[in-house]
Amino acid sequence: METKRDTFSGKLGFVFAAAGSAVGLGNLWRFPYLAAKYGGGIFILVYLILAVTLGFTLMITEIAIGRKTGLSAAGAFQKLDKRFGFVGALGCVVPFIITPYYCVIGGWVVKYLVTFITGQVGQAAADSYFGDFIAKPAEPVIWFAIYVILTAAVVIIGVQKGIEKASTILMPILVVLILVICGFCVTRPGAMEGVKYYLLPDFSAFSATTILAAMGQLFYSMSLAMGIMITYGSYMKKDTDLRGSVRQIELFDTLVAFLAGLMIVPSVFVFSGGSEEALNKGPSLMFVTLPKVFESMKLGGIIGAAFFILVLFAALTSSISLLETNVSMVCDKLHWSRKKATVIVAVYILVLGAIVSLGFGPLDFVKILGLGLLDFFDFLSNSVLMPIVALLTCICIGYFVKPKAICDEVEINKPFKEKKFYIFMLKYAAPVCLVLILIFAVSEAMGWIKV
Ligand code: PHE
Repeated sequence: METKRDTFSGKLGFVFAAAGSAVGLGNLWRFPYLAAKYGGGIFILVYLILAVTLGFTLMITEIAIGRKTGLSAAGAFQKLDKRFGFVGALGCVVPFIITPYYCVIGGWVVKYLVTFITGQVGQAAADSYFGDFIAKPAEPVIWFAIYVILTAAVVIIGVQKGIEKASTILMPILVVLILVICGFCVTRPGAMEGVKYYLLPDFSAFSATTILAAMGQLFYSMSLAMGIMITYGSYMKKDTDLRGSVRQIELFDTLVAFLAGLMIVPSVFVFSGGSEEALNKGPSLMFVTLPKVFESMKLGGIIGAAFFILVLFAALTSSISLLETNVSMVCDKLHWSRKKATVIVAVYILVLGAIVSLGFGPLDFVKILGLGLLDFFDFLSNSVLMPIVALLTCICIGYFVKPKAICDEVEINKPFKEKKFYIFMLKYAAPVCLVLILIFAVSEAMGWIKV
């Protein structure tokens, strides 16, 4: 059907587009709270090791699958090996689980942006501000709906390209702003304690949960194991350096996450004493801590507003790529028009996301496997479905299609320096690690083991 696919212009175009999808709330909101919760330095260490081994292997594989077949996930696996067609379909389910709750957090960002623009920095910095806000029945749902409409409008009007262009300028500005905020935070009295917590691994805090959390974060942050990178790969030109691009995307994605953590985790020590309770805030961490930072800064109101605008942009480029994936899935399967598909998928997101949002307020008694609604969907996608998709991808390529197909694709124009390592990872190390982690995730969720 797809006779001619648009392609990205050269390596940089590709890297920026893929980085736009990769860099988002995963880096700015999710990474810091996981790092705070799972022991700081030890989490960073595990994450970095996983990024250059598992992350590298999977991203190379997915982008090469896409470029080789010229198809998105659903068709790509089918084309490579009929028996593995279902892997593509399974991968496509993941964005349907993530998008609703991603947009709930997007709504929180919009709310904070408006709070800062209207000069309510003092109120936002108060301890109970965030908790009171998300517990309300209607307000968070309204901000969430605004965020969904914003995302859907971009997808319908088709101005993604413009948004992506804008984000290539805004993203570097975001990094600079984060650096400035980092500089401010780490020079506050008491911050060194937090910097140490963040950078020095404490091996006694290590457990299988650390690996599980870091791996789920890796998939999430790099948009892996859900077909997105396959789609991006299908748009990549044959003469673009695949391996080099993967390295750059990984580096940029990890750098932004690392800096976001360096901005937020030491602040927890400065403003909330670094107690276990303060570090364990989970999804609310960024929203509770940063306003305190901005309140104590000169020009904090303006810096805060600028910060949340940039975060909103980073989040939008990611949620657009999520929604886009959902929409193209529906269009392919049901042959609806893009507009119809977008509207219907948006309604689905609105319904499921509203329920997730209410999970912090009127529905906070609803627990699945002991988890609140947002945490449950997060767990289901990141700790269960993505490892399954990643495992099946490794098995499909490692043992059926054979790694040579991927290596040849990578080597079209540049040598594949890590070829031996890649094949070892794909065939042995990654599958073993993924199976273990899946067993662990399920056992923990079922309450068979306690951590
Ligand atoms: N990687 C994005 C982030 O870090 C989230 C995302 C996941 C976006 C999957 C698109 C697809 O925020």
